[in-house]
Amino acid sequence: MTTAPIVFDAFAPEHRPDPYRRYALVREAVPFLDSGLGVEFVTRHAECTAILSETRWSHRDEAELFHPDAERVDLPTSFLWMDPPDHTRLRSLVSKAFTPRRVVDLAPRIRELVDGMLDRALAAGQVEAIEAIAYPLPLIVICEMLGVPEPDQEMVHRVGPALARGFDPDPVLDERERRARDEAARELIAYFRDLIARRVAEPRDDLVSALGRVHEGGDVLDEHEMLSTCITMLIAGHETTVNMVGNGLLAFARHPGQLARVRDRPELAGPAVDEILRYDSPVHMTTRTARGKLVVGERTFADGDNVCVLVASANRDPRAYADPDAFDVARYAGAVATPRHLGFALGIHYCMGAALARLEGEILWTELARRVGSLELAGEPVYRPNLLIRGLRELPLRLRA
Ligand code: HEM
Repeated sequence: MTTAPIVFDAFAPEHRPDPYRRYALVREAVPFLDSGLGVEFVTRHAECTAILSETRWSHRDEAELFHPDAERVDLPTSFLWMDPPDHTRLRSLVSKAFTPRRVVDLAPRIRELVDGMLDRALAAGQVEAIEAIAYPLPLIVICEMLGVPEPDQEMVHRVGPALARGFDPDPVLDERERRARDEAARELIAYFRDLIARRVAEPRDDLVSALGRVHEGGDVLDEHEMLSTCITMLIAGHETTVNMVGNGLLAFARHPGQLARVRDRPELAGPAVDEILRYDSPVHMTTRTARGKLVVGERTFADGDNVCVLVASANRDPRAYADPDAFDVARYAGAVATPRHLGFALGIHYCMGAALARLEGEILWTELARRVGSLELAGEPVYRPNLLIRGLRELPLRLRA
């Protein structure tokens, strides 16, 4: 009971650079913590894993739970916030367009983008790495995959951060942030309505056109479903990956020995992606609601009980990981199986874009290690205030070949 303020302390602005010590305090004290706000925090790996793996823990109520104050801007609910059978139907239809082949085909373009960004950064010697690398790389990749033309990408860059901040619970947003979130949603909806209509009339070789063509036993995506899918892909696929790149660059700048290991053994670039997602997860939490009586560990939940799964705390749980606060790029490369991190979640909502995020990360870490001999902080990193999708606003870096 008296521990509740510790969790909210972890969410306080001064703890954005390092919420992990506060998570540890709570996690070591209790596996579940009543927030006093109708949501119970889940702090440990085993309990978080159990909840995310069980479909009777519904994800349908998150919008209402976190965003009771959101202006309903005619945005049809994304399948991220649906349960079976609706979730199953939509995810299956979308996966017919968002195929493994479509992701693999992006590799040469990702390599070209990474090369250009590293060329410019090395030539400059010092960059603000969020603006120079972390933001543009996933933005260009997801926009080109969807079919958002280059001149319109500036709009996505402008509205993305307001939407990402808008994922945070309404009570932590100020009036201006809530308004910015709703305006951004309105602008993106209008934009994609128009883009979808154009691509349905004149299809091209992009994901929006492909979504317009998918069908399964006579079933298709209707206009609203296409709209919510495009917006989900754009925001879920972009704002998260920005933070994977930003958090990864920071981890490598602070641990030059780990970058040297990837340089010596380039096959560690893939496992390094998983270690970054474990060590400094872009997504810190997600909610679930019990459908029926559900038992987790020693605890029994009643129908309608809400939990907030603290993914980023589970990823540092010493019950699951040896030396959990160490950044070790070989952690996922050893012969001994390391427990799965929850950075992409688990179960039916497991990140649909995981393969794309991994590809971007693997190419970037490979090239960074190969081309950059020295990577150092050139100033203090500055964090965005975001709780749910957490990451950096500014990352000044000095690079030498
Ligand atoms: C490092 C980057 C990424 C991270 C850390 C990440 C993380 C996550 C997490 C934690 C979830 C589950 C959320 C929940 O259960 O509340 C999720 C779902 C999702 N992600 Fe990602 N994501 C990333 C990149 C991407 C990309 C690149 C795309 C698309 C191109 C994408 C598309 C999606 C979609 C569509 C879902 C919903 C899946 C469902 O509900 O069935 N994500 N992601």
